[in-house]
Amino acid sequence: MSALRLGDEAPNFTAQTTEGEINFHDWLGDSWGVLFSHPADYTPVCTTELGTVAKYTDAFNARNVKVAALSVDGLESHHGWIKDINETQETTVNFPIIADEDRKVSELYDMIHPNADSQLTVRSVFVIGPDKKIKLTITYPASTGRNFDELIRVIDSLQLTAYHKVATPANWNQGDDCVVVPSVATEEIPNLFPKGHKVIKPYLRTTPQPNLN
Ligand code: BEZ
Repeated sequence: MSALRLGDEAPNFTAQTTEGEINFHDWLGDSWGVLFSHPADYTPVCTTELGTVAKYTDAFNARNVKVAALSVDGLESHHGWIKDINETQETTVNFPIIADEDRKVSELYDMIHPNADSQLTVRSVFVIGPDKKIKLTITYPASTGRNFDELIRVIDSLQLTAYHKVATPANWNQGDDCVVVPSVATEEIPNLFPKGHKVIKPYLRTTPQPNLN
């Protein structure tokens, strides 16, 4: 399987998870999705990551995002480890963890990078839109825990583009000005962006973040 690229359809699959068998596309429904792999159960960095994702439940729900984790460990291992995550990270894991023992999903999503580790998944992240297209891929090494604030920031940016015709500049954060996407003509801006705008260059037009009061 060659690497998945932005705009590709997220491959569908059925898999056993800690919340029962899922058909991935049916499970996503009309939601946005995050599919992320971790190298192995009962490892320290992964324990902190899955606990952190559980603590971000409200943030994901507010953005209509469903989250699924994955490793090549089995269901029994996942269930035992969840107890440790809940205990040590003081949270409740409330999203499915896929048991990909036969590596079917890992291979579909190119999550095993043999020159890094021939057996275990790397820390892959896929953000999937309601159209089932891949909107973001990020790959981290096993030794680096992910920054889930950054993941939320990118989802906010993707949703601003999808719903409000703006993109986000370097180091953008919630509340900062956005840039009007190039497909919007400057004459259309006053109607589309009543909060105001600046034309810094014909190709660089900014406006206050449209979805804030
Ligand atoms: C961890 O989750 O701590 C980890 C997993 C594999 C390699 C290194 C660290």
